[in-house]
Amino acid sequence: MRTAVCPGSFDPITYGHLDVIGRAARLFDRVIVAVFQNPGKQPLFSLEERLELARQAVAEWPNVAVETGEGLLARFAAARGACALVKGLRSGADFDYEAPMAHMNARLAAEVDTVFLAARPEHAFISSSLVKEVAGHGGDVRAFVPPHVEAALKRKYAR
Ligand code: PNS
Repeated sequence: MRTAVCPGSFDPITYGHLDVIGRAARLFDRVIVAVFQNPGKQPLFSLEERLELARQAVAEWPNVAVETGEGLLARFAAARGACALVKGLRSGADFDYEAPMAHMNARLAAEVDTVFLAARPEHAFISSSLVKEVAGHGGDVRAFVPPHVEAALKRKYAR
């Protein structure tokens, strides 16, 4: 059984994330979407909300589970017997952000490799941050997030 972990803050989960998760689910036997707190970011959605939005989004894939991540990602992945961390790359800037983490995670857990999947061109401009900005100004985000995430964004910004 080959297990991969798809980590992130998922604030909120987008079609870009889902494309990477879906492709990982075809490449690996089991995928764990790990929803982490990123200390460098102030999230819009609570950890519980992000977890629930992600759970609903991946419900159609029987080999994908969603968990909260705590502590070191490398330790989280090794504890679950994962052989890979799967991340999407949209650009060189993403690579510059991800490469040091990949090297550090490899030092922390040599048995867990980082695998980068190139974002599909139609998703390369989607980010949770931009989706929040557009939704916060009342823009249409239906092309970027599933309907239940769009509804959650509307509820958040209606307050
Ligand atoms: O979606 P994000 O915010 O880019 O995801 C970043 C995340 C959660 C993958 C990263 O912050 C992380 O790995 N956090 C877990 C703590 C950890 O292991 N830090 C050391 C990374 S080398």
